[in-house]
Amino acid sequence: MPQLFVMLSFLFASVSDVYSVSPPRTTTKPPQFISIPLVKSHTSRDLHLLKTLGAAAVHARHVSRGRRRWQAFVTRSQSLGTTEYPGPTGMLQKSGERATWKHRHNARASQIRKNKQEKVDSDAVSNPEAPQSDTNPGRPSDAEVTKAHTTSFPYSAPMDIEGEDIGYLASVCFGTPLQKFLLLLDSGSADIWVGGEQCKGDFGGSCGDHRFLGPNSSSSYRETGTSWYMNYGSGSVSGDLVNDTVKFADFAELHDHTFGVTKTESRQFAEDEIPLDGVLGCAKQSLSMQQTPTFITALKTAGLIAKRIWSFKISRKSDGKNDGEVTVGAMDPSKFVPLSLVCVPNVNDAGFWEAKLDELTVNGQDVKLGNRSCIFDTGTSLFIAPKLDVDAIHKSIPGAKFDNSSKAWTVPCNTTTSVELVIGGRAFPIQPKDLAFGPVDNTPGTCMSAIAEGGVSEGPTHWLCGDTFLKNVYLSTNEDTNQICVAFGT
Ligand SMILES: *[C@@H]1O[C@H](CO)[C@@H](O)[C@H](O)[C@H]1NC(C)=O
Ligand SMILES: *[C@@H]1O[C@H](CO)[C@@H](O)[C@H](O)[C@H]1NC(C)=O
Ligand SMILES: *[C@@H]1O[C@H](CO)[C@@H](O)[C@H](O)[C@H]1NC(C)=O
Ligand SMILES: *[C@@H]1O[C@H](CO)[C@@H](O)[C@H](O)[C@H]1NC(C)=O
Ligand SMILES: *[C@@H]1O[C@H](CO)[C@@H](O)[C@H](O)[C@H]1NC(C)=O
Repeated sequence: MPQLFVMLSFLFASVSDVYSVSPPRTTTKPPQFISIPLVKSHTSRDLHLLKTLGAAAVHARHVSRGRRRWQAFVTRSQSLGTTEYPGPTGMLQKSGERATWKHRHNARASQIRKNKQEKVDSDAVSNPEAPQSDTNPGRPSDAEVTKAHTTSFPYSAPMDIEGEDIGYLASVCFGTPLQKFLLLLDSGSADIWVGGEQCKGDFGGSCGDHRFLGPNSSSSYRETGTSWYMNYGSGSVSGDLVNDTVKFADFAELHDHTFGVTKTESRQFAEDEIPLDGVLGCAKQSLSMQQTPTFITALKTAGLIAKRIWSFKISRKSDGKNDGEVTVGAMDPSKFVPLSLVCVPNVNDAGFWEAKLDELTVNGQDVKLGNRSCIFDTGTSLFIAPKLDVDAIHKSIPGAKFDNSSKAWTVPCNTTTSVELVIGGRAFPIQPKDLAFGPVDNTPGTCMSAIAEGGVSEGPTHWLCGDTFLKNVYLSTNEDTNQICVAFGT
């Protein structure tokens, strides 16, 4: 049975296609092709890369990742209900059948992990409501995370910054007793997964210095007997769908929620430097590749929220405000300017969040691109659009140049140009400092542009508007009204 496809892209790692096979829960569901923004940030090895290759190489990786994601989105949207993907058949298996899988066992790593888990457990027992600041004490990946301040709005959790505005992370508690996991917030996918106690690296090592969930650490953990499997490039991620308690912020506690737990992870997930312990998807129910109620759908069913709303205040590391916040079921009135709020219909049928653009202006002038729309993706760092559009935009930006060697546009680092997206009749400017991504090596004063070319011929009017744009607004999605709201942040 052809099933769901996922594309995983890794900044600083080769990008490869991912095949994800969902559990055989429903019989006729259109194939899905989505992506999860798992990225590595500046690990020590990558810092070396940054030093030796420079910002251009880092930019190229962002672009590459964004392009893959963009392409996946467009293909996904277009394939829905029309063609079936030739999925890898025979990958759907019950858990038991997977028992023959061999993993080289790294006893020492396992012991270290076990000790850590015990420490985590005892922390959790003594203080299940432990403050955010003690999450993951002493992990190597701590250096990758800029912690957000605690939030006073009851439906919210602080949203930390991964690396240099690469991804956004929130603490979510799992199990009994509750244990904190740091999950990547992804508006471009719809499922939750975390690492499992039995997790082994597919390269023979451990699954790194992460949190793990399983029967030893959670008394409410229940196997559902359904496996969950992804294969990508040189490695794979596999695991089970399980039921357990999931708690977000202080109010939203679900019992017997169904989500994924990994048994095998490739290096791109398992390395110590990766700060995330899993992913929390915020796209619509129709994108659920686990084909179970999404977290937000389950919260509504449980009567914990009235409407399936996700709201994001995505912060900019360089601002030093650490005011990132994710909210469910509401918008936090302290995080946006009410008079600036506009709400528009979601124009995406597949389950992504996509808004029509009235126009794109540069320094107030309409670039006259026509009918364009933006997929709002918290998991993409840059702003990705097809070449013709990217060229047109940059031709309007004073001092922008096309760099033949990197095949990318550059802008003056001190640019004051305002690029604005007009949505619902209101112009939302991208701050010039978000446009100038990073300095080009050996060319002082020249920066790579954060608006990068990507895409496939099938989808010339869809853009992928990642954090380059989202850092400039408060974003709120409503799955019940199928609307997207944007406002100026505070
Ligand atoms: C779980 O606990 C059992 C019994 O103490 C032990 O044999 C097993 O190795 C533990 N599993 C993990 C993954 O720690
Ligand atoms: C898991 O939870 C679902 C509801 O969320 C329930 O229908 C199912 O029976 C549960 N399965 C197990 C094994 O507990
Ligand atoms: C604009 O694009 C949408 C799809 O994104 C399409 O349905 C509509 O017909 C287009 N309108 C024009 C005027 O091209
Ligand atoms: C850039 O490359 C194009 C062809 O790919 C060439 O026509 C153009 O002259 C080059 N520009 C510079 C400044 O080297
Ligand atoms: C930007 O920097 C250049 C030198 O690199 C300078 O000539 C120019 O005046 C500056 N522009 C602004 C707007 O500061």
